[in-house]
Amino acid sequence: MEQKSLMEKIISLAKRRGFIFPSSEIYGGLAGVWDYGPLGVELKNNIKREFWKSMVLSRDDVFGIDASIFMNPRVWEASGHLESFSDPLIECRKCNQRFRADHQDLILEHENWHKKRGEEVLWTEPKNFNLLVESYLGTVEGEKSKVYLRGEITQGVHVNFKNILNTLSPSLPFGVAQIGKAFRNEIAPGNFVFRSREFEQMELQYYVYPDDKQSMEYLEYWKNERLNWYISLGLKKENLRFRMHQKDELAHYAKSAWDIEYNSPFGGFKEFEGIHHRGDWDLRRHSEYSGEDLSYFDSKTNKRFIPYIIETSGGVDRAVLFFLIDSYFEDKDRVILKLHPKIAPYKVAVFPLLANKQELVDFAKKIYNDLKLNLNFKIVWDDRGNIGKRYYSQDEIGTPYCVTVDFDSLKNKDVTIRDRDTAKQIRMPIDKLKSYFEEKINQ
Ligand code: GAP
Repeated sequence: MEQKSLMEKIISLAKRRGFIFPSSEIYGGLAGVWDYGPLGVELKNNIKREFWKSMVLSRDDVFGIDASIFMNPRVWEASGHLESFSDPLIECRKCNQRFRADHQDLILEHENWHKKRGEEVLWTEPKNFNLLVESYLGTVEGEKSKVYLRGEITQGVHVNFKNILNTLSPSLPFGVAQIGKAFRNEIAPGNFVFRSREFEQMELQYYVYPDDKQSMEYLEYWKNERLNWYISLGLKKENLRFRMHQKDELAHYAKSAWDIEYNSPFGGFKEFEGIHHRGDWDLRRHSEYSGEDLSYFDSKTNKRFIPYIIETSGGVDRAVLFFLIDSYFEDKDRVILKLHPKIAPYKVAVFPLLANKQELVDFAKKIYNDLKLNLNFKIVWDDRGNIGKRYYSQDEIGTPYCVTVDFDSLKNKDVTIRDRDTAKQIRMPIDKLKSYFEEKINQ
């Protein structure tokens, strides 16, 4: 399959089947902003649920939080974002289009565009462009105060460090996980939801002893945990790799940083999730700027200190995109999304063999309603077109199992289950369906 067209196919499938739509499309859309449709929201919620299960519910040392998007603007001074959260921007003097100075391919493309018209391109000097999105709060015009939509969800955790210590008294090492929206005024949003201006992050801030060797061991530990999590949800190992940040590309807060990268159809390996050693940057700066003591008292050693932080920071929207790309499969005219059953939007589709035989429809509806009531995941009903078309239609959105109710079902109290990936069919007693699907979906 040709790589470039894969992206076009994914974008068209996402729109056609209700995964992702351009935001406010009837008004012409808004660059870098997307809406999740009925299928997309299920996929996204499933990814977030699996993240929460693996990072919070299955661990004793990680707690959850849900901090707000607006914060006291001093937070962004302390975190260094007002000063350093920027990308280099250059402007074409000919047509005033702006580009990220480090996006060489787009710059060359733009120069060639002008050259073809016999025009020479002159660029402005690179200027730093701050990515924080500004807003204003308050009711009185002129006195409204400037606030920022959070540029990363991270700071909501660190400003609550003292609250976590006071309420749970956790012992080091421990972590705080969060999922939520972040906003960046990206200079060049693009590649579908890969680089958006409004997106979601899933993060862990893991507080450890301020010990260089031990903290680097935790960095290694979390790198592997996170890579294995993606693989456990079906991403192909060969499409993932680690990349270490060079000294000159480290973010202002990072002592050491690694990216998990995905082999994308738009220019090869691209950042998927960041695993960062943030040192004591955040807690130290918030202590300094707020005047609150954000140190930790270790009762074992009777010492007080500021912990180091190891962070894992993944993009939910990038996960949606890369899971879609990775699972896309064509078999002649059949398109299959081979999504892991845990994240597939619909887990089971139920059909009556014929939609015009009331007896069959009633019996199938009863099975459908029972499954819906007793299984803890999304089941869907379909009685449009013929069976073959229904199978194809479910394959294309990644539904792992289809249940067909036929005339034998009425006599024998059993149904046909058809597997998405193998297209094999088995017969199953109706009273075994619940346990069968529970086992299959959760394995
Ligand atoms: N708290 C650290 C932090 O925010 P980052 O590397 O700037 O680090 C973490 O972002 C992750 O958030 C990225 O690896 C990516 O998955 C996601 N992300 C960042 N900017 C994004 C954007 N403009 N659109 C979609 N996802 C983005």
